[in-house]
Amino acid sequence: MKLTKFKELKFKSYKPGKYEIPSLKEKRKIIKLSANESALGASPKVKAILRNNISTSKYPDYTSKLLRKQISTKFKCDSNKVICGSGSDEIIQMLCQLFLAKGDHVIVPEFSFLMYRIYASISGAKVLFSKEKNYKISVDNIIKKVNKKTKIVFLANPNNPTGTYLYKNELISLRKRLRKDILLVIDDAYYEYMKDQNYASGLKIFKNSKNVFILRTFSKIYGLAALRIGWGYGDKKIIDALNFIKPPFNVNEIAQLCAIEALKDNKFINKSIKHNLYWSKKIKKNLEQFDIYSNKISANFLLLSFNHCKLSAVAFEKKLEKRGIILREMNSYGIDNHLRLTIGNNSENQLFLSELKKIFKNV
Ligand SMILES: Cc1ncc(COP(=O)(O)O)c(C=O)c1O
Repeated sequence: MKLTKFKELKFKSYKPGKYEIPSLKEKRKIIKLSANESALGASPKVKAILRNNISTSKYPDYTSKLLRKQISTKFKCDSNKVICGSGSDEIIQMLCQLFLAKGDHVIVPEFSFLMYRIYASISGAKVLFSKEKNYKISVDNIIKKVNKKTKIVFLANPNNPTGTYLYKNELISLRKRLRKDILLVIDDAYYEYMKDQNYASGLKIFKNSKNVFILRTFSKIYGLAALRIGWGYGDKKIIDALNFIKPPFNVNEIAQLCAIEALKDNKFINKSIKHNLYWSKKIKKNLEQFDIYSNKISANFLLLSFNHCKLSAVAFEKKLEKRGIILREMNSYGIDNHLRLTIGNNSENQLFLSELKKIFKNV
């Protein structure tokens, strides 16, 4: 018997940040600074929900109605233009399913979140990469890649893994210069951490736009990565179509309840922002003493360049792993001699800094 053919998958699959170090001999706690998760965990309000006896025998609300309402209250937007997903990942997947077919073109910045290119490729579309300038997205280079077949432009702002970002006026200019029928997807995954006055989130700028779609996640500052929950915001017609193709119970009950509480806890969010700023500055400064340079502070991670350092990125990564600390390698993103470091909690960051000093004492 010869089984029917399935899709040929001719692209690299997603490899998440490492979470174990098999070569580590001694038993010690692993410090995982490789996946841009929340430094402070989740809000106490979320923890209170998790301690409750939540019934699991009934299907969840398949429209995530209460959560969408909370989102619309907090962000002053229309709950009918919100769709929730099992992580923003799932929304990216559904957008590609909805908009793309074989022969279509999608543009992504050359160093960008890998799931845009992966889901677009699965849908049969061709992915074109727009060159960045000094690891920053270039509007000019995106426009240069546009052709008759272009359907979607994906970008994250701030961008993962580079940590750079487009200013509000640059995003507006991109939308103006793109053909009107091309969907611009702006991923706001890290927007909460942003302090620069020249920056504005995609949602803030394009709330009423018909050809911009916004992605948001609960996996970063809200600390709900394990629950898999995110949301998308766009024109009602797109949302209706996404609801048509969405798996019926894609967002579980516990995730919905926790996300509602997470949104309410402004105190926790502000604490997380302060923590991130304090440690980003401190870590950046310490790394510079050893000629490891990084992007201007933006999200909850830093892209570290080893181009001026005595050690290569690989050598530093190995030395850290021997000490139980994992950073994200950047070769899978096509960035040579760099590592990405997520800002951790107080003790993780202190340990990182003390190991950093020890490593360079012996170089
Ligand atoms: C830019 C960006 N978008 C989306 C995601 C995925 O978010 P989620 O956990 O909601 O699927 C990530 C995760 O690292 C990310 O960096």
